[in-house]
Amino acid sequence: MQRLQDRVAVITGAAGGIGMATARRFAEEGAKLVLADLDEEAGRRAAEEVGGIFVKANVAEEDDVIRMFQTAYDEFGSVDIAFNNAGISPADDDSILTTGLDAWRRVQEVNLTSVYLCCKHVLPYMQRQGKGSIINTASFVAVMGSATSQISYTASKGGVLAMTRELGVQFAREGIRVNALCPGPVDTPLLRELFAKDPERAQRRLVHVPLGRFARAEEIAAAVAFLASDDASFVTAAEFLVDGGISGAYVTPL
Ligand SMILES: NC(=O)c1ccc[n+]([C@@H]2O[C@H](COP(=O)([O-])OP(=O)(O)OC[C@H]3O[C@@H](n4cnc5c(N)ncnc54)[C@H](O)[C@@H]3O)[C@@H](O)[C@H]2O)c1
Repeated sequence: MQRLQDRVAVITGAAGGIGMATARRFAEEGAKLVLADLDEEAGRRAAEEVGGIFVKANVAEEDDVIRMFQTAYDEFGSVDIAFNNAGISPADDDSILTTGLDAWRRVQEVNLTSVYLCCKHVLPYMQRQGKGSIINTASFVAVMGSATSQISYTASKGGVLAMTRELGVQFAREGIRVNALCPGPVDTPLLRELFAKDPERAQRRLVHVPLGRFARAEEIAAAVAFLASDDASFVTAAEFLVDGGISGAYVTPL
């Protein structure tokens, strides 16, 4: 499929699991890519692989965000798709009882303020074009509570979800779609290592997933490509869950 032929896409957190898988999928579908990440080495490698441009950017810094979209426009002449995906979930973000203000603020800056900045600075390009698709990465924890809390992460993703809904409504008549992607847990190397060490802990989490496994990053990327493309022309302000059924389950099959 070449649904994104010659569309210009900016992906943040592009050196990571979901970002990189999406960059590969977008490239397969014909998009022109600008990949942004804090990690210069991995980011450059990723851009080389998919034939895109790398921009080193901290998405929590307004000047970096402005430069990132300006680079895309200068290189390719439009900005059609923004996948605002960079995010962190550090270990010192835990129960509200033990999470300090520093950890709280760091996670809010990287996960929520960054999405505010990215939307704020990509919207003017899309308004001038009269079209565009923005996909902001939230999480299934934006719609469900967890007893093993990461309080600032959860609050930040709830913020991403509410902000996305509002932008989707505000800019709908200008031809700009804004959707929140809510992935369930993804099978990352880190998660695999953790669960190989502790199979009981893995089972305690997997019992909640009707599909009985975690997502592959490519499965999340396929959903992003759909939202980015004209196949999703009537989808906006959506809470787009790609979670293996977690949020729909009361009891899961064995
Ligand atoms: N992996 C999961 O299970 C899961 C589930 C739900 C939602 N998510 C969300 O999906 C998104 C991507 O997750 P992932 O699993 O690919 O994570 P990842 O850690 O593999 O990748 C994240 C990337 O973001 C980059 N990054 C971090 N801070 C940055 C900053 N300030 N500026 C620019 N780049 C920065 C990192 O260098 C990294 O390359 C995140 O927003 C995450 O919260 C992940």
